[in-house]
Amino acid sequence: MLAGVKFRNPVIAASGTFGFGLEYRQIAQKLGGIVTKAITLEPRAGNPMPRIAEVCGGIVNSVGLENPGIQRFKTEILPRLRNLKSRLIVNIAGSKTDEFVQIAEMLEEDQITALELNLSCPNVREGGVLLGQNPKLVKNLTSAVRKRTRKLLIVKLTANFVDPAVTARAAEDSGADAVTVINTLFGLVLDENGQPLLGGRTGGLSGPAIKPFALFCVDRVAAAVKIPVIGCGGIMNGQDAYEFLCAGAKMVQVGTANLITPDRSWKIVRELAVICRLKKSVQFKKVRKARCKK
Ligand code: FUM
Repeated sequence: MLAGVKFRNPVIAASGTFGFGLEYRQIAQKLGGIVTKAITLEPRAGNPMPRIAEVCGGIVNSVGLENPGIQRFKTEILPRLRNLKSRLIVNIAGSKTDEFVQIAEMLEEDQITALELNLSCPNVREGGVLLGQNPKLVKNLTSAVRKRTRKLLIVKLTANFVDPAVTARAAEDSGADAVTVINTLFGLVLDENGQPLLGGRTGGLSGPAIKPFALFCVDRVAAAVKIPVIGCGGIMNGQDAYEFLCAGAKMVQVGTANLITPDRSWKIVRELAVICRLKKSVQFKKVRKARCKK
């Protein structure tokens, strides 16, 4: 359950790592949900190639929010997702409050469970992380969208040069139902000549390299807000997912692991179920209780 909504399990495919759920539908069906690639008001071509660099412990991406725009999403993609059995969460991005509001108003279809406000993309000049670094903007944007949608409202936060506990509180105060913690961390990859390797120059680091920091952020945010936290950052297996739940997350998002093998999230669902059975879930209830007393 997340803010009163039932999910079939606590594992969700993170935005940008599962497309729109069309290619691997049989896997998408078995997850708690999938978050779509970010959708903007107008189509975006994204950043120049190359867009992904492999680094020690993860990857750095600079996709630049490539997407077909809200109109094509509604007419060409949404109808093909009609019978999806897992929860559909649409990640939305923009550079101004008005854009987020317009997109939210256009996504009233029943098949969509939640909207995830992307206030944390590190790869665009306007919007993205610049919004999520400023608690006032987080507040204004969240409350503006809240007024226009009755869907579950999730805010995806950044931990780049900002305390996510502060921005999570801003999101909570303005009507968010949950927060996703964290998006990728700023990264720069240089080639053998010392030149930026990625077409967008800088990018966002994800994968096991960020897991300890992501866990730290989840622990910190979960102690600061009452709304549920969705943990994200370097989850590669069931044990990683379990640790995020112990740190205070109610659900988890799996990202980079899906790019290695598309069925990794499903494997994590099964591994997590075994671990929770072994620990009888009691242990992590105790851990969470202890953490709340802090
Ligand atoms: O560049 C990108 O499209 C990344 C998006 C994100 O990190 O939210």
